[in-house]
This record gives sequence, structure tokens and C-alpha cells, in this order.
Amino acid sequence: MVLYIDMPLKFPADFLWGTAASAHQVEGSNTHNDWWQAEQNWAGQKLKEPSGKTCDHYHRFEEDFALAQKIHTNAHRLSLEWSRIEPKEGEWAQAEIEHYRLVLRSLKSKNIKTMATLHHFTNPVWFSRQGGWQNQNAPEKFQRFAQKAAGELGDLVDFWITINEPTVLAVQGYLAGRWTPFLRSPLAAFRVIKNLVRANSLAYQSLHRQLDTPKTKVQIGVAHHIIYFHPFARLGLALSADWLFNDWTIRKTARDCDFLGLNYYRSFGASRSRSDLGWEVYPDGLEKLALKYYRRHKKPIYITENGIAATDDKKRQEYLLSHINAVALARQKGVDIRGYFHWSLLDNFEWALGFTPKFGLIEVDFKTLERHLKPSALLYRKIIDEAQE
Ligand code: BGC
Repeated sequence: MVLYIDMPLKFPADFLWGTAASAHQVEGSNTHNDWWQAEQNWAGQKLKEPSGKTCDHYHRFEEDFALAQKIHTNAHRLSLEWSRIEPKEGEWAQAEIEHYRLVLRSLKSKNIKTMATLHHFTNPVWFSRQGGWQNQNAPEKFQRFAQKAAGELGDLVDFWITINEPTVLAVQGYLAGRWTPFLRSPLAAFRVIKNLVRANSLAYQSLHRQLDTPKTKVQIGVAHHIIYFHPFARLGLALSADWLFNDWTIRKTARDCDFLGLNYYRSFGASRSRSDLGWEVYPDGLEKLALKYYRRHKKPIYITENGIAATDDKKRQEYLLSHINAVALARQKGVDIRGYFHWSLLDNFEWALGFTPKFGLIEVDFKTLERHLKPSALLYRKIIDEAQE
């Protein structure tokens, strides 16, 4: 082991040590969603390559979770692919529901807690044909799916995430024109965020109505992408970006959530160290933002994503260690952080950038689909083993 583990603090025994992934990025052949559809003309849409089979996790989840178990993780975040479960509007694919029951059961049988995301960027084709998240009835359509998923799978899910990164979805797809539906319209982006915020409220209320018992209250959150904008870097820009990108959606969804899910990767204007994608590496940003949002909203926090695109795994080891240290420091300052999910379990399909960025703790050979634990996975295991209080 190259790195010396110097943990300032121990973590409680019930702390969640997790990994994270999303359906379209790992499962393969998600033929009924809008990303798959856009990938059919990938060159024309300026996408690097199509997702195809990606890691074929759909058929290899058992092997992948056995590897997660080897890392000693006790939680995994996955997404339930809406377009598999509702391939045509109002028609439910029972076989796919059964598939997800097997997936969730496989995790449970390994003592790995399940965090299920209902929306991780992809939409059923029928939904996008109706205007996607711009359609004013989109929140009700999503609510219907959430209700179905809760009814069929609720007994196997420990934590729910309604929506992954509302701001990123709106910015990438509707403002920057980089993701489907490739629009560049501030008005559309605003409408989309508004609908995503309402979709969260509806799903949040439905899930509580359906799943709460007099003794237990189901735990539901939104996963927000947050960036640390250094306040002295181009002052006005940083302040407004912070407000627009980070604060606004968190504030809008804060009432209808039981915990804050924070996806933290990078800073802006605060560090010289960079990932393979040129993203700044700045662990202190995680501590600072966790502190800020905990003070502001007083909700428990889960770090629902944190990771680095790095072909050199040493960089991932440093990243992992320094960011878990940041979590420990925030906890020491009183922030109620209850879990950390590393992005990602596997090297996978990184949206418009294809398979080049390597975020996995597990290396995947995309020709043979063979998997190998990277040294960072072993470091993660060591941290988990030594972190118990
Ligand atoms: C997303 C993931 C993505 C990761 C790395 C997050 O914004 O939720 O789907 O792979 O960042 O870019």
C-alpha cells in the first residue's frame, strides 16, 4: 500500500460505506430510453460513442456485487431504469420488475444496504416524445412510476433518491445542449428544473404515504451535484454560480426530503490539481459545502457520489483518502454525515464522453468484460476496516 492512512476520526459502526452506479451507465442495452435513441446517431449528436452493452451489469450483477462484498462495502446506490419498467406509457413490464427484485435481493443477501434512485438522467422514449421534462404533466407521470416502483420493490429498498442532479440534467440537456434533447434555452432549462422540483415533491409524498408504517419512516432524498466555487476566483461569477448551480435547487427541494444527497467531485478556482477530465481536485470543498448545507438545512447528509476520472489509479487512491478525510473532518465539526458512496463501483459509460474516463474501483475490460479490483478498491477496504469506532 503506497498511502499511509491517517484518519483524524473514527466512524460509527452504522456508517454507510458504499459505491454508486446508474442503470444506463452499467447495465447495457437500455433500448427504450432517450439516451439510447440519441446514441443511434451518436456522431451527429457529438457523443463520443454509444453505450451498447457497457459493463453488461444487467447479466453480471451477481459477480459485481460479490466484488463489492470483497471491498467490504455495506451499501450500494443503483438506479431503477424507468424505461425498462414502463416501456410504453401505462404498461408495466413485470419481467423487468422481477429482474430488479433479483438485483436488490442479491445486495441484501450480501448485507449490502440498498439506495435506489428513481431517475438518473434517462427517460423512457414515450416520455421524451411528449416533451420530456418540459411537459407540464411530467411530474405526475414520474409520480405514477415512483408509486409503481415503491409498490413492487419497496420491501427491498433501504433508501430512496427521487432524482439525481436536477441542475445537471437541466443544464446539460436544455441549456448547454450537450445531452439529449440538445437544447440551448434558458427558458426550457428553468421549466425543467421547476418540473423536477415538483416531481420530487409528488414522489416524496407518495412514497411516504405508501411505505411508512407506524414504526418506520422511509428515508428519501434528492442527490445534488455540488461544486465548490472559490469565492475569490472571479468574485461575482463564483457567487452567482454558487447560488444558481448549488443553492437554488437544494433550497427548493429541502422541504420534501429526509436527507440531503450530495454528489461532490470538484472545485472551481481553488486548486491546481486535476483529474483526467481537467476537473479540479479539492477535498476541502467537500468539508466546506457539507458544513454549509448542514447548517442551512439541518438535515442528515449522505455523500451520494464522490470520485475521480483517473487512468492512473494512484490518483484515485489519493482522492479517496483525502475526501474521506474531509468527511471525517466535517463530522468532527458536527455535520451529521451518515454515509459515503464512491463513484463508481465499475469503470462505465460516462455519458457524452463514452468509455474513456475511468471512474471505477473495479477495472472493466470492455472487450472481454472481465473485471479486476484496482489498488484503490483495496485501499477503500482498508479504510472501511480501520474506520470502525
Ligand atoms: C453523475 C454520474 C456521472 C458522474 C461523473 C455525476 O454528475 O451523477 O452519472 O457519471 O457525475 O461525471
